[in-house]
Amino acid sequence: MGLSIIILAAGQGTRMRSDLPKVLQPLAGRPLLAHVVATAEALSTDDVCVVYGHGGELVRETISGEHLRWALQAEQHGTGHAVMQAMPETPDDNRVLILFGDVPLLLPGTLQNLLIDAGDHDLGVLTVDLEDPTGYGRIVRKDGLVVRNVEHKDATLAEQEIREINTGVMCCPADRLKAWLERLGNDNAQGEYYLTDVIAMAVADGVTVHGVKADNEAEVMGINDKKQLAEAERALQARLVDELMTEGVGFADPARVDIRGTLKCGKDVFIDVNAVFEGRVELGDGVTIEAHNVIRDSRLGAGTAVHPHCHIEGAKTGADCEIGPFARMRPGAELRDRVKIGNFVEIKKSIVADGSKVNHLSYIGDTDIGTLVNVGAGTITCNYDGANKHRTTIGDGAFIGSGVNLIAPVEVGAGANIGAGTTLSKPAPADKLTVGRARQVTIEGWKRPVKKGS
Ligand code: UD1
Ligand code: CA
Repeated sequence: MGLSIIILAAGQGTRMRSDLPKVLQPLAGRPLLAHVVATAEALSTDDVCVVYGHGGELVRETISGEHLRWALQAEQHGTGHAVMQAMPETPDDNRVLILFGDVPLLLPGTLQNLLIDAGDHDLGVLTVDLEDPTGYGRIVRKDGLVVRNVEHKDATLAEQEIREINTGVMCCPADRLKAWLERLGNDNAQGEYYLTDVIAMAVADGVTVHGVKADNEAEVMGINDKKQLAEAERALQARLVDELMTEGVGFADPARVDIRGTLKCGKDVFIDVNAVFEGRVELGDGVTIEAHNVIRDSRLGAGTAVHPHCHIEGAKTGADCEIGPFARMRPGAELRDRVKIGNFVEIKKSIVADGSKVNHLSYIGDTDIGTLVNVGAGTITCNYDGANKHRTTIGDGAFIGSGVNLIAPVEVGAGANIGAGTTLSKPAPADKLTVGRARQVTIEGWKRPVKKGS
């Protein structure tokens, strides 16, 4: 039997108090809905339908997926009405699994269990026991069997005491669902078509309802406001760090790290507090990330150490490099092996070859630096003429004195020395000292200016 997954994502999310549609609010660096789509695609299905409405085009543009189709719910008249919009294109002989765009932490395994328990012909409802069930739909059981769901706003005081709640996730055969949805009414506190009313309809039709309890509260949490969004963020971060620790990654404090994307680590990686990883980051064996670093879309080779307070984006290093403290690596920065980048150094679109050092206060942009080069403090590559960028080339073993301006395009030969304070605008030959600065003079009889009237 085929499986169609329907994700409800049309609601406005008033309680977010945001111009951004609720399902696009970021969780671990990705929109809420992207997490749900990824979970759906992890199950074996070739049909995932997102019901969208509020924030329409923006939602469609932001979210992509392999098997995604879209159903518009132009006006939002409730979760039952939302599912109706997806049904015309859903094959009758499929099973349907309904997910919510604002329940992002569900794991594929939990859904698989629900699908297995419900089987091909019954109705499965994913539930959970909550300490504080306020706001959620309550699962009413009789003799242990699920008989209906009652929304918080429609519940009697006695029903409000029930702690087993509806997560919103359910599965059942498509043809049955179609028939039930046609019979839904909106005679309730919110004047909406409640999807959850199909539970009582199934019971009336003699269809068995399986209330499957999730064992993890965080996994099924629905996100309605910024407070819950922050809670979900912490829960997801804890999950991600947990997985990494199981793989052998060391953390100074598992609660003080943020992974907004994917982090792949080799053996014996250690991560100190307040490191933020964004996009795709790969850390080789023995990499150390010291405190307070932001690293995005980068690959650091084995044995590399990042000292505190660096910002690294779109960069790559070989083995045993040292970066920081206070360094900035921008897209296209590529360090080969044993390179040292020190404090207040910015590297952009440049290659720094084996064993070279740029230790203090420099800007290196659009540059090729050979092996074993020493770049002195305060050296600047002047790569931009106001209209175009130009490259600088520095040969193997060159020594660049402090405070040098390299006006690109320009080339420093292998083994060349450039005197401190030089402004280089012509090629510097290999193995020679080139100095280009005003000759030092001392002015005889010069007097320091004094303040008028003193
Ligand atoms: C819903 C359930 C409740 C459950 C809770 C779990 C119903 C009637 N209630 O309540 O039993 O405990 O989720 O989190 O199903 N949506 C649409 N179109 C609509 C209305 C909603 O697409 O017309 C989408 C929303 O974008 C959201 C999801 O459906 O992703 C849930 O809607 P929401 O309004 O948050 O429902 P709850 O009141 O939380
Ligand atoms: Ca909700």
